[in-house]
Amino acid sequence: MILNRMPRPMILSSAGVGWQIARLMVTVLWLSFVMPAHATPDVSLLKKNGCAECHRLNPEAPLDSRKGPDLFFAGDKFQADWLTRWLQEPVVIRLSGFITDTGFLKGEPTLATPHPKLDLGKAEAVTGHLMQLRMEGLEDAPSAELNEPLSKGKRFKYKILFEREYGCIACHQSVNLAYQPRGGVSGPSLLSAGDRLKADWVYRWLKNPKKFEKRGRMPLFEFNEEELQALTRYVVWHKQSEGQ
Ligand code: HEC
Ligand code: HEC
Repeated sequence: MILNRMPRPMILSSAGVGWQIARLMVTVLWLSFVMPAHATPDVSLLKKNGCAECHRLNPEAPLDSRKGPDLFFAGDKFQADWLTRWLQEPVVIRLSGFITDTGFLKGEPTLATPHPKLDLGKAEAVTGHLMQLRMEGLEDAPSAELNEPLSKGKRFKYKILFEREYGCIACHQSVNLAYQPRGGVSGPSLLSAGDRLKADWVYRWLKNPKKFEKRGRMPLFEFNEEELQALTRYVVWHKQSEGQ
């Protein structure tokens, strides 16, 4: 019995090897189609325009090399229309400068140095490239709920959460009841955040800021799902069209 069975596994295994090689070849072929789009986005235009001198365009670049916020997830974070407008007419977002700003701790930002400006054609081309920069493995976000317009009642409720319960206002520019700017300056201004940021990204940021900023200075909160959605909706409610 035993002798009888011996040759069979050998035949089977050589057939198995052939089959495995074939499968491997199919996988390699498949990966060669799928991988480049994700793994190596084209950043040549951004480099040509000097963006890489201050911004990290991929997560492997050393943290110390940056002078401005990371852009390797720009396509997840920003709204394309805002990018095109801002790149032509940049306004200051971080009123105390970026983390690496030498004047940061002294409260004397050097950001008075204006951000490089692009003309319309370049701004559109650069936006197209920025929007392709994505981070892999991002968690799902409840997009439909986050993008619903905010009723007045909810807005007041969420304002209390934002200003009093969590004190976000201590570090971020927001608006008072008369739509006048109010708030701290150690974090990025949230005025026009609804024009600038994607709601899904704000939700992911609030859930896990460390995923995007390893050296962040924003406190780590543990929100429940309801608070996460409420705060996200309050942040993206800040739009130019709301009278700011
Ligand atoms: C000299 C350094 C420098 C160069 C060059 C530079 N940036 Fe910036 N960039 C900064 C700094 C600093 C900020 C933060 C500005 C602020 O918050 O007000 C910034 C902010 C930004 C923002 C907003 C980021 C955010 O998270 O809010 C975008 C988008 C951006 N830059 C894109 C670009 C692009 C595209 C280029 C190339 C055309 C470029 N930058 C070139 C320094 C630079
Ligand atoms: C102690 C100051 C501080 C407090 C309090 C704070 N933040 Fe922040 N926040 C920051 C800083 C600083 C950043 C910039 C990234 C970093 O350095 O971590 C930031 C980044 C953000 C961003 C991303 C903005 C961008 O353009 O990159 C959002 C959205 C945000 N905070 C919302 C909130 C909300 C909502 C609360 C309240 C629950 C809050 N923050 C409380 C300091 C703070």
